[in-house]
Amino acid sequence: MTAVPPQGQAVTITSNNVTVRYGKILALNDFTVKVPSGIVGLLGPNGAGKSTFIKALLGLLRPDNGTMTIAGRDPSDDMGAVRDMIGYMPEHDCLIESLNAVNLVTYMGHISGMLKKDAIPRSHEVLDFVGIGEERYRDISSYSTGMKQRVKLAQAIVHDPAILFLDEPTNGMDPQGRVEMMELIKKISDSDKSIMVSTHILDDLEKASDYIIIINNGHLVTEGKIDELLAKKEGQKMIKAVGQPSELDVFLTSLKKAFEVRSAIVDGGQASIVLINKDDGNYIFKIGQESQVQIRAYYPERASLEDVFIGTLDIDNANEAEKTDAASPGNKIEGGEPGVN
Ligand SMILES: Nc1ncnc2c1ncn2[C@@H]1O[C@H](COP(=O)(O)OP(=O)(O)OP(=O)(O)O)[C@@H](O)[C@H]1O
Ligand SMILES: [Mg+2]
Repeated sequence: MTAVPPQGQAVTITSNNVTVRYGKILALNDFTVKVPSGIVGLLGPNGAGKSTFIKALLGLLRPDNGTMTIAGRDPSDDMGAVRDMIGYMPEHDCLIESLNAVNLVTYMGHISGMLKKDAIPRSHEVLDFVGIGEERYRDISSYSTGMKQRVKLAQAIVHDPAILFLDEPTNGMDPQGRVEMMELIKKISDSDKSIMVSTHILDDLEKASDYIIIINNGHLVTEGKIDELLAKKEGQKMIKAVGQPSELDVFLTSLKKAFEVRSAIVDGGQASIVLINKDDGNYIFKIGQESQVQIRAYYPERASLEDVFIGTLDIDNANEAEKTDAASPGNKIEGGEPGVN
C-alpha cells in the first residue's frame, strides 16, 4: 500500500428543511443540517433516511421541499458540476463484475472527467492504496465481499474529489477488514476533505469520525462533535447491588428521587442500575444502607457512542409516539367514552 495523496479543499454541505417522499413514504422530513468537513458519521437505524439523504445530495433525487447546497451549488440544478466534486461509494453493488479492477477504476476515472492516460496510473495508485494487489487483473466477479468494498472505495476516490459520500463502507467486511477500511478513510481525511460515512456500525465511527449526525424516521435527532456528545454522559455510574427483590425496589425508588436513573435491570435478587452522579458515591451508599441492600460495585460507566445513539433514539421515539397520540386523541379513548376530555 502507498499513501494516497489526495488534495482538496473543505466544502460546505447544507440541507435546509428538506423533505423527500417516495409515494406515501416520508423518507426525509424537514431535514436541516450543516455538515462540517472531516469525517462525519451519518447514523441511523434501518430505514432512517441515510441513503436518501446521500442520494439527494448527489442530485439523484430531487427534494419535494427544501434546498440543499454543496459549495453553494444546488445538486438538483447543477448536478454535473457537483458530481465532479464528489466521490460516491453506494450501499449496494455498483461494480461491473465482468471487468477487472484496473479497467473498472480507470473507466470510472474516465467518466469522472479524467483523461485516459491519467486515469490508468491513477487507477493503479488508488488500488495500491486500498490494498488490492495482483488480483486487480482478475474479473471482479471472482472477488470476495471485502475486496469489492475496497474497489468501491478506489472508484470513489480515483478523480480525487473534495467530498466523499460513503454509504455503509464496511458492509459485509470481517472485523479486520472493517478496521482497515476505517483506517483508509482516516488517511483520506488527512487532507482537507469532507467525508460523510453512513453506517449503523457504531464501533467503526467512534474511532474514526469527528462529528456525528443522528437521523431517525427521516428527521434530525441530534448532531455534534463526537467528544461533546459523549461528554453529555459525564457522571454516568454503574451500580451493582444485591438484596431481597422488595428491598431492591425500595432502593431503586429512592435513587430515582435523588438521581437521573438512565436504566435499571432488577433480576431476582440482583440489580444493575445506571445513573448520573457527578459527586462522590456517599449518598448512594447511604440509600443502600437504608434500603438494606448491599452495593457490590459502584464505578464510572464508560460512555460509548452506542449509549448516545440508543439513548437519543429512545427519547426521539418516545417523543414521536407522544406527538402521534396528541395528533390523534381518538387513539387514547378507543373503546372508551367519546367526548371525554
Ligand atoms: N426507492 C424507494 N421506493 C420506496 N421507498 C423507498 C425507496 N428507497 C427508500 N425507501 C424508503 O424510504 C425510507 C428511508 O430509506 P433509506 O434507504 O434512505 O434508509 P437508510 O437509513 O439508508 O436505511 P438502511 O440502513 O437500511 O440502508 C425507508 O422507509 C425506505 O423503505
Ligand atoms: Mg441505506
